[in-house]
Amino acid sequence: MAASKEPDELDSRFFKAADDFFSAYGHLGLTYDDVTLATCYSEVLPRDTQLETALADGLKLNIPVISSDMDTVTEARMAIAMALNGGLGLIHYNMPERQQLSEVSRVKNNIHGLIQDPIKVSADEMIGDVLKLIEERKFAFSTFPVVDREGTLVGLLSGHVVKPRYAKRKIADALTPRAQVHTIAQKELGRDPIARADKFFTDHPGIHKLLVVDEQDHLRGLFTMSDVERIAQERNAQFKPARDAQFRLLCGAAVSATRNAFGELDRNRILAHVGGLIERGVDVVAVSTAHGHSKGVGDTVRMLREAFPKLSIIAGNVTSAAGVEYLAAAGADAIKVGQGPGSICTTRIVAGVGIPQLTALYVASRAAKKKRVTLLADGGISKSGDIVKALTLAHAVICGGIFAGCPEAPGEVIEISGKLYKQYRGMGSLAAMKAGSAARYGQVADPARKMAPEGVEALKETTSSVDQVLAQLIGGIQSGMGYLGAANLAQLRQQARFIRVSPAGQREAEPHDVVELKTTT
Ligand code: XMP
Repeated sequence: MAASKEPDELDSRFFKAADDFFSAYGHLGLTYDDVTLATCYSEVLPRDTQLETALADGLKLNIPVISSDMDTVTEARMAIAMALNGGLGLIHYNMPERQQLSEVSRVKNNIHGLIQDPIKVSADEMIGDVLKLIEERKFAFSTFPVVDREGTLVGLLSGHVVKPRYAKRKIADALTPRAQVHTIAQKELGRDPIARADKFFTDHPGIHKLLVVDEQDHLRGLFTMSDVERIAQERNAQFKPARDAQFRLLCGAAVSATRNAFGELDRNRILAHVGGLIERGVDVVAVSTAHGHSKGVGDTVRMLREAFPKLSIIAGNVTSAAGVEYLAAAGADAIKVGQGPGSICTTRIVAGVGIPQLTALYVASRAAKKKRVTLLADGGISKSGDIVKALTLAHAVICGGIFAGCPEAPGEVIEISGKLYKQYRGMGSLAAMKAGSAARYGQVADPARKMAPEGVEALKETTSSVDQVLAQLIGGIQSGMGYLGAANLAQLRQQARFIRVSPAGQREAEPHDVVELKTTT
């Protein structure tokens, strides 16, 4: 329930709704630490708050947190962890296009109740061939259905026999024959295939794989008990994994407005690559650049919208109402806001351009409302309180630095003087631009020309897993919503009341006059 108490007149003079507050500070760029939110009458317990957010028609997250499309933050492992927690990862594009396609496939194939196109082997191959396949494709499993050329089920190659000692044996001599393989007919799956498979595993102790076949005994899918158990557990979790209609984890991928040798938008290449991403099951593409209110980005979004009418598109970055309107008119569903707030960003220093993030979000949010698009607050989040403030104006946040020290982020752990770190670098840093992201900053990765970096190469201390980092962040968001009496994110946007904080007020907000033994952030 929303707060039922009418606001007090005295309170209203001090604690202002967004329109009144930001208009009063029209001459000043404000960011997260410049404001605090006023408490409101509440009937809402933090643990009961709902965090779902719909970013586009076909794109609903269960928590409003996205990991950045940066080469030291989001590849498949991070995207899987984010989606399992109800959020989303945007796979970066500082890698060959083919690799980005396989990163997306890894996320989409992670765990879904029914694996519709399982990896199969044929009876005339050797077990050594299977071992090689596992090694090459980094499979975490070793049991494979065996089919003939027509796709008819011949048997099951159990992981127990996929061992180097049997490498020289033919699969035909080691498989469990068709008659002993447990199968279910596709038409018997009914409306809840997971419940059906769950029941099968309960009724058949010791059996961990169930194959699905059609009337001609062609292989049509595979259930594994561990997947089914995990999904059954998830059904009771407060924040369920973010999944598509086929129960696969959600995954996003960033694309750039790639240009050809003549400096023109490389339409064919962009369309072919995005077509490939869609084939792999990508749920959203993000046209990610430093300057989204620009012709190249508008043209790319327009082209993608025309070619793929149902595709969810994120575009950015912008910091103005005109920028939001421009990308919305081009066909974007969700717009990234942020130029220079990021922890590794130097755009404001190098280019002298960019708007402090909260003011940028406010201005963008008014245009977004008019154009019926959603907003993503991108960069500058260093604590859960920042997320609560961002969500008073945006529909989700994008974080880089907060996740860069997690084990799920790409890169090795480095030890310096007994402390453990991971590399975290701006996509506009020299090293990242050389690795492919120069176009994002309107630069050319030409060894003969000097590039002007807009980001730094840095280190983050290693942190706990994404699960644990998100648990802390979500706890903070829910707590903020409880203080505001907001049962969901729409109510948070509606009920937020702001007040400017003095430098002394900022100091007061942090632990002070104590010797801190344990830090909570
Ligand atoms: P946080 O604060 O979460 O910020 O570490 C991550 C966001 O920063 C943006 N980004 C950059 N901005 N130069 C910039 O000005 C850069 O080199 C750079 N690299 C990333 C991006 O929006 C990311 O999500």
